[in-house]
Amino acid sequence: MAPLLALLLATVLSAHLVLAFPGMDSGALEDQLARRSFNMVHRPHTKRTDPFLSLPALNIAGIPLPISVNYPGGVTVGRKVIPDSSHPFQNPPSGAQRGGCPGLNLLANYGYIDRSGIVGVGELLWALQEATGWAPDLAGAVVALGFRSTVDVTTMKLSIGNTDSRTSGLFTSLIGGTVPGLFSAAAHTKFETDGSILYDDAYFTPGGTTSQFNATLWAQRLASANSNFGGVFGNDWVGQTRFDSYNYCIQNNPQCNWMAVAQVLFYGAECLTYLNFPSSNSDGTIGSATASVVQTFMGIAAQGSSFVKVPESLPPSSDGHWYRRSTGITLAEGISGLISAYSAHPVVFGSNNGATNSFVAQGTPTQLQGTITVQAVGCMILNEINENVPGSFNNLVTATLTPLIAALTAPGMLNLGC
Ligand code: HEM
Repeated sequence: MAPLLALLLATVLSAHLVLAFPGMDSGALEDQLARRSFNMVHRPHTKRTDPFLSLPALNIAGIPLPISVNYPGGVTVGRKVIPDSSHPFQNPPSGAQRGGCPGLNLLANYGYIDRSGIVGVGELLWALQEATGWAPDLAGAVVALGFRSTVDVTTMKLSIGNTDSRTSGLFTSLIGGTVPGLFSAAAHTKFETDGSILYDDAYFTPGGTTSQFNATLWAQRLASANSNFGGVFGNDWVGQTRFDSYNYCIQNNPQCNWMAVAQVLFYGAECLTYLNFPSSNSDGTIGSATASVVQTFMGIAAQGSSFVKVPESLPPSSDGHWYRRSTGITLAEGISGLISAYSAHPVVFGSNNGATNSFVAQGTPTQLQGTITVQAVGCMILNEINENVPGSFNNLVTATLTPLIAALTAPGMLNLGC
């Protein structure tokens, strides 16, 4: 393990030198800059041409089933009050699914995706851009990851919580039955993995689901932000909290799973605390990721000296509204964040071997070898998504999905010059 560790360390030590979008082709860079100036803060939000309007139709196993991604389109860009009047906050209705992703729960609580938590892929793509302000490359890549385990390709629906037969349709039996919910035991380690900052690992929960709130975990994360980072949940906090979660996982969870690529992505997800949760200011800057902001977005409320789970909602700015950012959050921005956080406390990827403290390094962690640039990590993730089109489905479905996954990841491939 020593040479491997040395290699990873050498790799990450050079990371800070090369974080600024190296290797991006000039066309993509110009496009980004153009989008930035177009999105200048005081402009009213406008519509834009959408890269997902021509997503391929599907044809499962040679049978022309009536399946389409049904993408609504019409995403606005620029700083904007969210929610708009058509999307008021409501508590989850009875029987609704909610899971371990604060962003998805929040989108459902405002009706940007179906309030039931049973969601169409097209509406999800739209909501990620319209409500949470993700750029198309980030939205497309994360939705493509959802196909890894949880999307019923005959209905194009997924459950954002537990497995739920409402994702199924007439032809679901062709793919072997109802697909697992994103936070069901069956989906564990496919996309969802160990080391949440507020939910127990699958190993500790009845039935292995992964959205059981743990107030002690959260209290530790909050204490870390308060004592080490002035109460701000920024990139330094993300680096420290991933490292704390890593150590906790190895020491307490016999089945601790800290494998790349899922864990690399988790570093990126945690960066959303400061990239996405705070309201944006009128000068285009993003507000501070204070405890109040993060807890509101994540649906955590203080109760005496402990915490309870409540529905996720948007943390208001001083005028009472939450403002979407003036520029969409790009894949490059998320990856830049995850590299910085990882580089602060680099660890070897791997998993425990059935006992606590039995960590075995991942076979060949080629993922972070070479120069650790935004482009290298981004292309590694996008290539992995394309090369591993859902193994859980049969080959005919996989072949059918390939063009769809390619279309979803195309904006990222283009912008990162993969
Ligand atoms: C297609 C859209 C999305 C999917 C499929 C998705 C999926 C997931 C999954 C599977 C996890 C658990 C990670 C793990 O346990 O390994 C997660 C966590 C997380 N997600 Fe999402 N997510 C999406 C959108 C969003 C959005 C829009 C936001 C914020 C605006 C967000 C913020 C987060 C954060 C902060 C975590 C970490 C929570 C923790 O520590 O447990 N996600 N998401």
